[in-house]
Amino acid sequence: MTEPLLSARGASVSYSGSPEPALRGADLDVFAGAAIGIVGESGSGKTTLGRALVGAVPLTSGEIRVGGRPWSAVRRGNPVRRSVQMIFQDPYASLNPMLTAHETVAEVCRTWDGLSRSAASHRAVELLQEVGLSGHTISRRPKQLSGGQCQRVGIARALACNPGVLVADEPTSALDASVQAQVLNLLLDLRESRGLALVLISHDLSVIEYLTTEALVMYRGCVVERGSTDMLLKQPRHPYTRALVDSIPGSQRSPQLVRNAVDPAAGCVFAARCPDMMPDCLANQPPLTGTAGGAHACLHPLGELKLPTPIPLRTVVSSA
Ligand SMILES: Nc1ncnc2c1ncn2[C@@H]1O[C@H](COP(=O)(O)OP(=O)(O)OP(=O)(O)O)[C@@H](O)[C@H]1O
Ligand SMILES: [Mg+2]
Repeated sequence: MTEPLLSARGASVSYSGSPEPALRGADLDVFAGAAIGIVGESGSGKTTLGRALVGAVPLTSGEIRVGGRPWSAVRRGNPVRRSVQMIFQDPYASLNPMLTAHETVAEVCRTWDGLSRSAASHRAVELLQEVGLSGHTISRRPKQLSGGQCQRVGIARALACNPGVLVADEPTSALDASVQAQVLNLLLDLRESRGLALVLISHDLSVIEYLTTEALVMYRGCVVERGSTDMLLKQPRHPYTRALVDSIPGSQRSPQLVRNAVDPAAGCVFAARCPDMMPDCLANQPPLTGTAGGAHACLHPLGELKLPTPIPLRTVVSSA
């Protein structure tokens, strides 16, 4: 059976000084060519999971394996390290302001591939072309590039490592709406042309719908629902997923969440906002159940919704 390129089991992260864990027991397998979305509101732990997947944040418990080995066992310089690359939310901040686009990519080609200066230069031009940058543009520094162009440089830099998995953390949320679709289409093209696995983090369900085939929904560090993106959007089962889906502009229903007067330490993380909370939820995390489609959701009956409270979710619809 094919091994996943990347797998997380019970991955948990607690930042020092934070009152509660940022990531609680995440499980995830990333197979070659996968397109996985991670969605949830601000602070739900999406970036923490993404950073944990690329080995950039230490786990408090659990394990993330890359190429069959835990990140902790993969030494610096091991080619396995480069097989998982991250694209960041802020394209300017992620680049060295002193280097031109061409120098940024060529530097990675030299460092990782040991290419000569001229071979690295040639390779960098090819990679920048692959992401749609050429001519004078590649001789510019980040401050002289648009946000979309900076993001393309960041993508070319990631491609210079010839990764199997690309983790993109809100790659378009800092860009103008018109540029967002171009960058998303570039990611789609690269996934197809290179057979890349894409893990796309976004709070925007329309972006997740456009680019991914499976998705995880996060709330307060927990993965509360997972399944095929299509099923998740058409038939959300967890009350939180349902509220996210109902918050998409044009939805027939308004998002429904409640403010229960409880926030149990041991029970379900969603209990304080769950319209379907039951007494048992205060003591126990409700079990998850599987379906033929691979979706999981809490077993609670989806009762009548009460006390609507809008959730803070910005939704930008990106056209193709
Ligand atoms: N370096 C850090 N130190 C302490 N706490 C952190 C750190 N990074 C994140 N957190 C906390 O961990 C939780 C999850 O943060 P994270 O950035 O993973 O959420 P997110 O879903 O990516 O949010 P957003 O949509 O705003 O980017 C939040 O409560 C956040 O305040
Ligand atoms: Mg984030």
